[in-house]
Amino acid sequence: MAARPKERTEGPRKDPVVTLGARVIVVEDDQDVAESLREVLVDGGYLVQSAGTCREARRAFDTGSFEVALVDLQLPDGQGTELAGPLKSSNPDAEMVLLTGHASVESAAEAVRAGASAYLVKPCAATELLATVERSLRQVRLHAEKRDLARRAQMAEKLAAVGTLTAGLSHEIRNPLNAAALQLSVLERRIQKLAPDLQKPLTDPLTLVRDEIRRLDHILEDFLQFARPREFQARPVDLTRLLGNVVDLLQGDAERRHVSLERDFAAVPPVYGEEGLLRQVAMNLALNALEATPEGGQVRLWARGADRHILLGVDDSGPGVPPQLRERIFEPFFTTKASGSGLGLPIVHAIITQHGGTIAVEASPQGGARFVATLPRV
Ligand SMILES: Nc1ncnc2c1ncn2[C@@H]1O[C@H](COP(=O)(O)OP(=O)(O)O)[C@@H](O)[C@H]1O
Ligand SMILES: [Mg+2]
Repeated sequence: MAARPKERTEGPRKDPVVTLGARVIVVEDDQDVAESLREVLVDGGYLVQSAGTCREARRAFDTGSFEVALVDLQLPDGQGTELAGPLKSSNPDAEMVLLTGHASVESAAEAVRAGASAYLVKPCAATELLATVERSLRQVRLHAEKRDLARRAQMAEKLAAVGTLTAGLSHEIRNPLNAAALQLSVLERRIQKLAPDLQKPLTDPLTLVRDEIRRLDHILEDFLQFARPREFQARPVDLTRLLGNVVDLLQGDAERRHVSLERDFAAVPPVYGEEGLLRQVAMNLALNALEATPEGGQVRLWARGADRHILLGVDDSGPGVPPQLRERIFEPFFTTKASGSGLGLPIVHAIITQHGGTIAVEASPQGGARFVATLPRV
């Protein structure tokens, strides 16, 4: 194996995001070759695992996850090409690079037939090895992006379909609801004219009805906002102040629930967007977090500047979101709450996407849920 060129290990890499932490498995029975491949890849910033046989490789595919597999064509217990199937079934986005002893049209054709994205002839130069792996990695990223796009298109379709329906329905519900609220205030005024001892047994159920009507009204508000996302003029928004407002607004609610509401967003650079919509994002995420967190727990609103955008996060110490539900919770009307609308997160998703950002959920350091949005920086 040729010596590594100096600039690969010293000085900054051209595009560190491309390789940083990407996982590569080297399937090679020749210990010396395997070791030198590993060395070059580790220095290139990859996480490397090794296997010496087809059997070992299959076991590794099943237990670990990889972006790229560098596979020797001749292995003691079979042909490297046989590993393409098992690799794809456990790591659907992964790419295989075949290593062959000699360059020939047949070996190239065999590599392509097996589903490999490239092949390298041993011994190969470090630069060539790294360039090939990086190319495969770009393929891997493309697969993931394609899948993500398909998912988004499906979501957009669903949103459009329910949007029209929701707008019509919400108006139909709003009119009788307003009439009911009006009659309720008439009733209220009449009750206030009664003797005090007669008032008490009437005002309690009245308050209950008023609360229920208010709740219905909120749900309708969600429906309508969701059905007609409004256009906006992007301006620099002071996120520190905005999040401060949201915490102030929710403080009473948090105290009633005995949940501590923590702030971690001092001096965040401004984001580019619309204040009212971004406040709603923070509000919906924080409300969900408060609703999920049991007494004595914490909810933390945080924000910080990253490379090209701002990260806005809400952590909680509730039960978290199980991995199999992490995509579904952003679908309209998905809810696990008896009186939920299932529109809080779709609205958040729509607003963030409208801002050119992303939103995802993972586990929080406190063991609950962590929602993180990226937003464009000014
Ligand atoms: N912080 C959280 N912790 C756990 N689950 C959550 C959290 N936020 C949202 N969820 C889940 O996502 C679902 C959808 O949330 P949302 O769209 O806001 O609708 P709703 O709050 O009306 O149920 C919730 O019903 C809940 O199951
Ligand atoms: Mg909600």
